[in-house]
Amino acid sequence: MNTHITEFKARREQLLTSMGQGVAILFNAPEVIRNRDSHYAYRFDSYFYYLTGFKEPESVLVLIAGDTPKSILFCRDKDIEREIWDGFRYGAAAAREIFVFDEAYSINELDAVLVKLLANQPKLYFSLSESAVDDARVMTCLKSLRTQARHGLSAPHEIADVRDLLDEMRLYKSSYEINLMRRSANIAAGAHNRAMQYAKAGMMEYQVEAEFLHEFYRHGAQAPAYTSIVASGANACTLHYNANNAQLNNGDLLLIDAGCELDGYASDITRTFPINGKFTAAQKDLYELVLSAQLAAIAQVKIGNHWNAPHEAALDVLVQGFIDFKLCKGSKEAVLETGDYRQFYMHRTGHWLGLDVHDAGEYKQTKAQAKSQDKQANWRMLQANMTLTVEPGCYIRPADHVPQHFWNIGIRIEDDVLVTPHGAEVLTASAVKSVADIEALMRAAAE
Ligand code: GLY
Ligand code: MN
Ligand code: MN
Repeated sequence: MNTHITEFKARREQLLTSMGQGVAILFNAPEVIRNRDSHYAYRFDSYFYYLTGFKEPESVLVLIAGDTPKSILFCRDKDIEREIWDGFRYGAAAAREIFVFDEAYSINELDAVLVKLLANQPKLYFSLSESAVDDARVMTCLKSLRTQARHGLSAPHEIADVRDLLDEMRLYKSSYEINLMRRSANIAAGAHNRAMQYAKAGMMEYQVEAEFLHEFYRHGAQAPAYTSIVASGANACTLHYNANNAQLNNGDLLLIDAGCELDGYASDITRTFPINGKFTAAQKDLYELVLSAQLAAIAQVKIGNHWNAPHEAALDVLVQGFIDFKLCKGSKEAVLETGDYRQFYMHRTGHWLGLDVHDAGEYKQTKAQAKSQDKQANWRMLQANMTLTVEPGCYIRPADHVPQHFWNIGIRIEDDVLVTPHGAEVLTASAVKSVADIEALMRAAAE
């Protein structure tokens, strides 16, 4: 059995143990039709994949907790005709053996078998309201059981969200996951370095985006982890800009937020650099401010610090800079208190990263975990093997009170970070980011 199959099995066992009793049902993501008989590229459901390693659509995992715990897969049948058109399918027998489930059945048997599996169980773990189709399927099953009360059958009396248990597990990455995240980070970091060497005034943003896709795929990533943002000049002040269809102007900055997905795991990097290879004085002032904020935030990524500590550190640096550059007025405390800085920095400094780019996991402690009424203490503590992004920025739209040399400058610097016993490990460190390193790389490329 190869090691990651063992890991998926161990996760199922861990979930079964924390369930104690009852049944969990996890549906894989549906295939989505784009038009007529063409589908969008298929992406499995992250929770389902986390527990199975199984990537085929039309599959469902059922876990039965209790004295004899069981994990059961439902999947598509072998189908020679469909396999000629669409490719290989495992079929239940092979899937059971290769992915080490206790039992496996055809997906066509799901409704009938599910009624039996749910009968007389005390609790159902299910992600209710995630999909109307899956909800209806499960509700029909429960209804059918309730009609059989006279035969001594009962439906679960309690429904809990299975994701609450899984989110806690997904927060802590195993060495198998960390290894994949390192590789995903390295591919994306290489693509950012390549973009700095490639981009020139006169090119289109989409041509730079194409370099990313090329770099992702040729290194084995299966997809971008999210729609790439390639935003030149004023476009960088639109946080989720993804038209990527403007021409690159000499003298402007280019902000690129792009990462890839490798075997399910996302990288998420932003770099901002001058299109002509040399920062202007105003661009450099703001860039170095954001970089200092980012380094201050990364320094706060350590075991025992609360989730918000990096954000607070970034804000502290940014707000002082906004005051020094006459973007904000008043004392640092006053600007923090009024939130005036939000005109230029309106997002948070990071998020969990993993199978999803904005990964699973609470940012606040649950009531049970929180021992203090202190507002800050309610943030979750950072612990070893958590992975997150650190991504401060500043976005300066034209306004009367804003010094004109800063107008239309948008900067973000984003790295992926692993919490270790020795502090933060920056997984994306190979993407160059100091002013000197960016200018040197671009100068060398121009020679
Ligand atoms: N690329 C999405 C984000 O930075 O959160
Ligand atoms: Mn991010
Ligand atoms: Mn990003």
